[in-house]
Amino acid sequence: MKDKIAQTFDNLFGSRPIVAFAPGRINLIGEHTDYQEGLVFPAAIEQGIWVGIQQNELSSCRLYSTDFEEEFVFDINSFSPKKGHWANYTMGMVSQFQQAGYNLKNFDLAFGGNIPASGLSSSAALSVAIGTALTALFQLNIPKKSLVLYAQKSEHLFAGVKCGIMDPYASAFGVKNRALLLDCRSNTHLEIAAEFANHSLLLVNSKVKHNLADSAYNKRREACEESVRLIQKSYPKAITLRDIPVKDLEKVKQILPEDLFPKAKHVITEINRVKLASNVLKNNDLNAFGALLKESHRSLSEDFEVSCVELDYLAEQSWEMPGVLGSRMMGGGFGGCTINLISNAHLDKFQSEIYTKFKSKFQIEADFIPVALSQGARILA
Ligand code: GLA
Repeated sequence: MKDKIAQTFDNLFGSRPIVAFAPGRINLIGEHTDYQEGLVFPAAIEQGIWVGIQQNELSSCRLYSTDFEEEFVFDINSFSPKKGHWANYTMGMVSQFQQAGYNLKNFDLAFGGNIPASGLSSSAALSVAIGTALTALFQLNIPKKSLVLYAQKSEHLFAGVKCGIMDPYASAFGVKNRALLLDCRSNTHLEIAAEFANHSLLLVNSKVKHNLADSAYNKRREACEESVRLIQKSYPKAITLRDIPVKDLEKVKQILPEDLFPKAKHVITEINRVKLASNVLKNNDLNAFGALLKESHRSLSEDFEVSCVELDYLAEQSWEMPGVLGSRMMGGGFGGCTINLISNAHLDKFQSEIYTKFKSKFQIEADFIPVALSQGARILA
C-alpha cells in the first residue's frame, strides 16, 4: 500500500512523498464512556490509512483520495467544512494546526487505506495519519497527544460528530500485542498484554450502516450531559458520570427521569466493566473476560439503545455457539461489527455457521475479519 500511495502521488503531483501510516482500532470493552471521561480498552489494528505528502510551489493545496479516485483543491488561507466530503479530514487538521499557531505552507496530499469495515475508525486513522504527515513535512515538534486532540476537535468541527478521544488515541498510541487501558479523564493509558492464549479476536462485519448514526451518537452524548446536570444537584462534585460509583445506581434512579436513567446506567456500569475486564485479562481469566463482553452488549442494546437487530442477532447467536467466550457490538453502534473472542479450534465452524444463519435471516453476507493488535501511527521509511 505504501508503494501504491507513493506511486499515485508521483503520477499526480510529480514528486516523491513522505508517507505516514495510522491504523484503525478495535475496542475490547468500554463503549460510549470516553466522552464521559470514563475508561476504555481499545487497541490499534494492522489495517489503516496511508497518507503521502509533499510541499508544492502553488497557491493552493491539492488533495487526492485513491478510494474515491477524486481530487480536491483548497486555499490554505481560506476554507470551511464541506458537508459529507472526505476533504474535511485534511482541512479540519490543517485548521487545528493553524489554530495552534503553526504556519503551514501549501502541500499536496494523497491517501488510501485498507480498513475493511465501518466501525473501525477510518476517520480517526485518516486524521491521525494526516497529523503525523504534516508534523513530519514541516518538521514540527508536536507531541502525539496534541495530534490526538487535534484529530478529535477536527472531527467535531469539520465532520460534525462529537466523538470522544478513544479512536484517535488508539490510532496514535497503539502497541503490538497490547491493548490500551485508557483513562479519558487524565488522557493517559496503561499498556496491557492481550494475547488470548489459544483464542482469537474475530470481527463479524454486519455490513449495516445507518445514516442517522452520527446524529444518534450526538444525541446519546447530550443525554449523558443532561443526566450529569440533574445529578449534580445531589452530587455537586460530579463533573461527569465517571464520578458516580456503581453502588449508587439506585440513588441515581430516584433522581433521573425514566428515559435518562438507563443511559446513565449504561455508562456507569460500563466503566466498571472496563475495570473488571482489565483485571481478569491480567489474570488470564478469559471466561470472565468473555462474560463481561456479553454484559456490555446487553447494556448497549437494552439500556443505551445503540445496537440494531442485525448486531443483536449476531451477538445472541454467537453466545450460544461452542468455543465462543464472548461477543458484543463494537464502536458507536447502529451497524458495523461485533467483536468475538473464540477458541482457535472453533473458528472455522463459527464462521461457516454464522455466515449461513445471518444470510438466511437478513440476506446479508457477513465478512469475518481476524484482528492482530498492532503498532500506532508512524512515518514509513
Ligand atoms: C465512536 C466514537 C468514540 C466512542 C465510540 C463508542 O467510535 O468516535 O469516541 O465514543 O464511538 O465507544
